[in-house]
Amino acid sequence: MSDGAPYRVGVVGATGAVGTTILEVLAERGFPAAEVVPFTSERSAGTRLPYAERELECRSLSPEAIAGLDLVLSSAGGSISAEWAPRLVEAGAVVVDNTSYWRMHEDVPLVVAEVNPDALDSHGGIVANPNCSAMQMLVALAPLHKAVGLERIVVSTYQPVSGTGRRAMAELEAQTHAILHDSDVPPAEVYPHRIAFNVLPQVETFKGGDDYTTEERKMMAETRKILGATEDELKISATCIRVPVLKGESESVNVQTREPLSPDECRRLLAGAPGVLVVDAPADGVYPLATEAAGRDQVLVGRIRRDPSHERCLNMWIVGDNLRKGAATNAVQLAELLHARGLVRVPEGVAATPAPS
Ligand SMILES: NC(=O)c1ccc[n+]([C@@H]2O[C@H](COP(=O)([O-])OP(=O)(O)OC[C@H]3O[C@@H](n4cnc5c(N)ncnc54)[C@H](OP(=O)(O)O)[C@@H]3O)[C@@H](O)[C@H]2O)c1
Repeated sequence: MSDGAPYRVGVVGATGAVGTTILEVLAERGFPAAEVVPFTSERSAGTRLPYAERELECRSLSPEAIAGLDLVLSSAGGSISAEWAPRLVEAGAVVVDNTSYWRMHEDVPLVVAEVNPDALDSHGGIVANPNCSAMQMLVALAPLHKAVGLERIVVSTYQPVSGTGRRAMAELEAQTHAILHDSDVPPAEVYPHRIAFNVLPQVETFKGGDDYTTEERKMMAETRKILGATEDELKISATCIRVPVLKGESESVNVQTREPLSPDECRRLLAGAPGVLVVDAPADGVYPLATEAAGRDQVLVGRIRRDPSHERCLNMWIVGDNLRKGAATNAVQLAELLHARGLVRVPEGVAATPAPS
């Protein structure tokens, strides 16, 4: 347990698409870390990673290696978080977890820094970082919800391969290279079909005969949990699509508000909202692009227009960097909020949070 900064910070999954970005963002934002310890599987133990002008050596997870950590940002996959988050908490660390494993657990706050930071106050050792698609959408929609109330959201995502991690990025690059050089195209391994020069109407899996994917279910459930809305209070329909883009997720969003909201009022509200940049002069070719969003922390919003089929509906195009605001940046913002609120400590009497049944 820590009495205060600077902290001993662990980054689990440090060689991954999210983990490397967490290291970058921690260094960029000058998080008060006395020491940063990167963790990977046995495969990458010993690998050296850059961090703030120096190199850190990766370690594998073990009871000895996690002793004395104050804060851990974890992105090594659900099964690793299921096993190690409670062990880290027991060892005295607060865990900000990027996987989906703990997100819907009722005792675990699910937090977007700009939207529901007060949910952190009740943490019992584990804090969950939301799904990237829900995260960027909520940075843009929460200010509208606060001002005029949201009744219904219909969203289609256009998700980059970095959302699936390093292997997926390598798969897109190898297939694209082969097609452009007229050589044999490597078979799809990460995705069910070739991703290069293709569009896949499947992000993650169809579980137990569901006709929505796990990603679509997460988007709908997490959005409601973060906004504290029931299914009756907020209707949501999501379709998640994988596109051959490396970084930057785009979303087409149709939103029905409780009170009327004009496109101009919507632009005004969003112009003053934290974490949002309105990019909306479509006649001049100015609108959010994945290439513009990649590498930034803000969520870009444009193409804001009235839905001609409904007087209380607007359409918009929301684009964010899935690895930054969609994952690493929000995780580091949560670490900063925990620090600012004196919450980098496991509350007295907290035993390991039981896993979801
Ligand atoms: N990519 C995104 O946009 C995004 C956004 C939000 C959340 N997430 C979630 O974050 C997690 C990681 O995603 P990613 O895209 O970064 O995946 P990734 O690129 O495949 O990286 C996985 C990381 O986990 C490490 N790892 C694997 N097994 C391990 C073990 N037994 N012990 C410790 N570390 C282990 C890997 O280390 P090695 O080098 O040893 O293999 C690597 O550092 C997933 O749960 C994903 O759903 C991803």
